[in-house]
Amino acid sequence: MTAMDTAKRLAAETAVQRVEDGMIVGLGTGSTAYYAIARIAQRVQQGLRIQAVASSARSEALALELGIQLVPLSSISGIDLTIDGADEVDPALHLIKGGGGALLREKILAMSSNRFIVIADESKRVAQLGRFPLPVEIVPFAANLTIAKLRELGCKPSVRMVESQEYKTDNGNYIVDCAFGGIADPQQLEARINAIAGVVENGLFTHMASTVIFASQDGAISVLEQSR
Ligand code: A5P
Repeated sequence: MTAMDTAKRLAAETAVQRVEDGMIVGLGTGSTAYYAIARIAQRVQQGLRIQAVASSARSEALALELGIQLVPLSSISGIDLTIDGADEVDPALHLIKGGGGALLREKILAMSSNRFIVIADESKRVAQLGRFPLPVEIVPFAANLTIAKLRELGCKPSVRMVESQEYKTDNGNYIVDCAFGGIADPQQLEARINAIAGVVENGLFTHMASTVIFASQDGAISVLEQSR
């Protein structure tokens, strides 16, 4: 395991300490969320009783394999706690997410969670969002027109590809990675992108994280709480 993986695991395991008996827990997606799911599964084996919902087909398969009880989203009215990773975190705890392509389902879970805990290694901490190209999920219909509208917002858009084919999300849509370089007003940009017909959702998560847990490669943990 690399030092980076050790940091991801440490952040994840610190967050999982906050999971309690009886909770409905949202499971994130990505290499950091992986460690959270693995730790939750360990605690379930030790007797923790929770129900979980997953933010992607990948996390759902992992949870099932590890013995975590999943419930359909249609059967719940809210989530107690969601734990997920991020691609960038700024000082106001605004995030870029979607590097793994699961941003729509991740945002749906985060929005419906009483608490949304973000876990990350220190490399994700930035002064300003935008160095990481912002993932935007769009419907395939007239993708070129939607992409032209995204370009008008000042980014360099590029359709995510896998083996020469457009990458398809769990919802059957495309991801456009939008290189902005820097994002001065994340909240405004989040709204402007979502106002484009053809956009399903974008990876800016503003005013959503309740807590961010960073871990560094030397084992230091820092916990930032959102002031309400
Ligand atoms: C998945 O769609 C993403 O939002 C991830 O949460 C994000 O990309 C962080 O992933 P890693 O933990 O793999 O860096």
